[in-house]
Amino acid sequence: MTPFFSRLLSRGAPILGDVRPSDAAAIAAIHGLSFQRGWDEHEVYRLLIEKNVVAHRAVSGRKLIGFIVSRLAAGEAEILSVAIAPAWRGRKLSRQLLDLHLRCLAGLGTRAVFLEVDEHNAPAVRLYRRAGFRDIGRRAGYYQGGANALVLRRDLG
Ligand SMILES: CC(C)(COP(=O)(O)OP(=O)(O)OC[C@H]1O[C@@H](n2cnc3c(N)ncnc32)[C@H](O)[C@@H]1OP(=O)(O)O)[C@@H](O)C(=O)NCCC(=O)NCCS
Repeated sequence: MTPFFSRLLSRGAPILGDVRPSDAAAIAAIHGLSFQRGWDEHEVYRLLIEKNVVAHRAVSGRKLIGFIVSRLAAGEAEILSVAIAPAWRGRKLSRQLLDLHLRCLAGLGTRAVFLEVDEHNAPAVRLYRRAGFRDIGRRAGYYQGGANALVLRRDLG
């Protein structure tokens, strides 16, 4: 695509919506830029086609620039990953994605949402606290390098 058309298509606010299995490569790419342990495309694809997995994306033009993925079981959900492409961070996009995701989970009858986050990951911890997640535990040395994980919970509905 020429630079002119790519600029034209990427104008305006990012659009949020459901992830499709064909987004697997783009999600794997953002994941690889965001976490020490990457997900490969096939791993992401297999995850996205699971019946109990719910995922949303942010798109600018034709480019996927952020995603969030959860797995549901017995009325509860675990957020497995959320990431925004580096060039799009710092614009509260993750908050919009998380809001949409939580509304969708609530609509599916989810009563509580859980996640683990590195306690030193300030933007992520702030994102979740602002969205009403509360500490329910701490896993010492959970991450590579010895960082602790906070276990957070948000009740829905
Ligand atoms: C975590 C992540 C999804 C946040 O996405 P984002 O849309 O860029 O979020 P924002 O930059 O708008 O910031 C979220 C909050 O953190 C704050 N923040 C940003 N950088 C910060 C920093 N270095 N220190 C403290 N707070 C910070 C922002 O001010 C904002 O708080 P506010 O809403 O109270 O103002 C994004 O940084 C990312 O993709 N990181 C890599 C993947 C990751 O760590 N995912 C979370 C795993 S659980």
